[in-house]
Amino acid sequence: MKLKAISALCIALTTLSTVAQTHKKLPYLNPALSIERRVEDLLKRMTLGEKIAQLNLRPYYVSQDSSVRAAIRAGRIGALLKANGVALNLSLQREAIESSRLGIPLIFHEDVIHGYRTITPIPLAESCSWDRVLVGQSAALAAREAASAGIQLTYAPMVDISNDPRWGRIMETSGEDAFLCSQMAIARVKGFQGESGYTNETIMACVKHFAGYGALLAGRDYLGADFSLRDLQERYLPPFQAAIDAGAGSVMCSYLAYNGEPVTMSRFMNTDILRGQMGFTGLLMTDWCTLTHAVSMGAVADGRQSALRGMLSGMEMDMSSSQYITYLEELVREKKVSEKLIDKAVANALRVKFELGLFDDPYKYFDLAREQRTLLSAESRQIARQMAISSMVLLKNNARTLPLAKERSIALVGPFASAKGHLMGSWTMMGRAEEVESVSEGFQAIKKDVLVADCPISSIGEDQIKAILDVVSVSDVAVVCLGEDANLIGEAVSTAKIEIPAAQIKLLKAVRAKAKRVVVVLFNGRPLVLDQILANCDALLEAWYPGTMGGSAVAQLIMGESVPSGKLTQTFPRHSGQIPLAYNFRRTFSRVNHADLNHGPQFPFGYGLSYTDFEYGDPTVSADSLPIGQGVHVRIKIRNAGGYKAREVVQLYIRDEVATIIPREKELKAFEIIELEPGQEKEVLFDLDSESFAMFDSRIKRVIEPGIFKIMVGTNSADVKSVDFKYY
Ligand code: BGC
Repeated sequence: MKLKAISALCIALTTLSTVAQTHKKLPYLNPALSIERRVEDLLKRMTLGEKIAQLNLRPYYVSQDSSVRAAIRAGRIGALLKANGVALNLSLQREAIESSRLGIPLIFHEDVIHGYRTITPIPLAESCSWDRVLVGQSAALAAREAASAGIQLTYAPMVDISNDPRWGRIMETSGEDAFLCSQMAIARVKGFQGESGYTNETIMACVKHFAGYGALLAGRDYLGADFSLRDLQERYLPPFQAAIDAGAGSVMCSYLAYNGEPVTMSRFMNTDILRGQMGFTGLLMTDWCTLTHAVSMGAVADGRQSALRGMLSGMEMDMSSSQYITYLEELVREKKVSEKLIDKAVANALRVKFELGLFDDPYKYFDLAREQRTLLSAESRQIARQMAISSMVLLKNNARTLPLAKERSIALVGPFASAKGHLMGSWTMMGRAEEVESVSEGFQAIKKDVLVADCPISSIGEDQIKAILDVVSVSDVAVVCLGEDANLIGEAVSTAKIEIPAAQIKLLKAVRAKAKRVVVVLFNGRPLVLDQILANCDALLEAWYPGTMGGSAVAQLIMGESVPSGKLTQTFPRHSGQIPLAYNFRRTFSRVNHADLNHGPQFPFGYGLSYTDFEYGDPTVSADSLPIGQGVHVRIKIRNAGGYKAREVVQLYIRDEVATIIPREKELKAFEIIELEPGQEKEVLFDLDSESFAMFDSRIKRVIEPGIFKIMVGTNSADVKSVDFKYY
């Protein structure tokens, strides 16, 4: 009955008004015409003010509802962010379609970063699956939910690269490697946008933050960065290029500067590089208020100059700062900005709406019944659980502590044993804490009874420790769920310390003294210094912030219903003083470690254990040497020598032995996920094209230099077997 009423309401609301019916006859509303023809027709009918409004991306706040509606009716807003839900967005869209002069539909943007209502693991965690298919499915699920709630564009994927775990936004990255990050970007763009045209279940991707945001100093958000053209080309641009080649419809600029100039107004970045070099044809937008931030940064005197420089640089859509809507009309009248330039930007903004089909059916994303049945569906929860299982990384497993035998009694303790909201991490969108499966519920879901004792995250009282020890002392094994407060990760949250709070370490030590076996499960969003934890546990599972279905994912892995296969995508330091740390630094004549810490990382890039053992044979190449330009095949046999059917991420790295530009220690160039039964052996074939051996020369031109390359294949970046190959 309720559903019927809702459907009737939708039909009524989707009936176009008389104004809109009149518009229907116009060429820009004729779906039979090409998008270019329709854009051209519409542009001719728009006043300058209406055009500039299409570049005005404004946040929606309930408290400003009536002024937003008035601005929509007056044709002063082109896009909204932070408005979601069918009921609200449908009503806002009606204002645009029925009451604005030209009936140009609005587009609704949102930060759908790792799920909308069903929250999937944080992006850094998802990248640890290395699983392009699953990551694509996870993005598709986020798109389906967001689209059902009236969203058409997401500010994702974030493809920044960082070597600094202090940076709170490292949780939003796909790790430190440009190749892996590119693969994740492709999977996510295709997942969000679909691969065969937009439907009402897909949304447009906005790849961000263009470019070099991850280079920021000391991990302190917004502080600024200084990096070279080489860094830009080698590390920061490739994931953007991958996303663009995969069809990403829009790009967002970074908060920072390149070469001292805020990217939001850098013609070099926004036009020469993005359009010229990279061939991007979609819509470019600012990040939140970057046009006004440029004033605070001292790059321009005021908003008027900011709008001028932004526009002249090729920046098209203004998020939240209102500088374009305030100053552009005047700047055109004064002939400082040509209307032709405005038209070019507006055409891109309109094209997005045409491509999404909003002119043909501005209400296609608004169906209350669909929204209700899509959010948190059983299918979404299943994908989210699988994603969480595949994201978790087994870091230690002494004496095969894990998986736990079924008959063992378990004490499940610590601040994250029954936590819910914290399991979602940052950027939790419409995720609801009460809908998250806690670890204790996860054990119940797989029918395993556990004794549970909780405590707070950062100040744990003596009586709470005592209660925990009481359950620990009557159990065979203690599973201690520790982690970081989710409020200490994400945008604008950087930490100087990258450790688990002292109170939790104290708790762990107390448990260690009482328990027969200790398994630690970690919930966090950045690489952490783990020495104290490693010294006080038999096994350690990095669960990250696993999202809505994290609880059962943890339980399944601990009880051996699933086998861990995640591999780190960010190096774990032993001490924060080692930052920045990465597996792929350039070679040097002598790697001097710190005098007081004479070691490399705690865990290298690509590291992760399994319950089984994989034996790697020696890699072979299809030819020892080849003329430059030809591709080479690399083969390696891998055997599952243990007792569990399991997946392995087989990683291939290349090192250029001699190059005119100092080569990196090694660089990831390919990877494959295989699944092997116990005793099974498989040959993995890597088909490397010559581009895998290319580098940027001293003039930043892409070249392949002749010489020897070491091709390394292994289970992580530090444990590899190699073969030499020569280009002549
Ligand atoms: C962030 C972006 C985000 C935007 C909109 C900014 O502060 O840097 O990543 O998409 O806000 O919420």
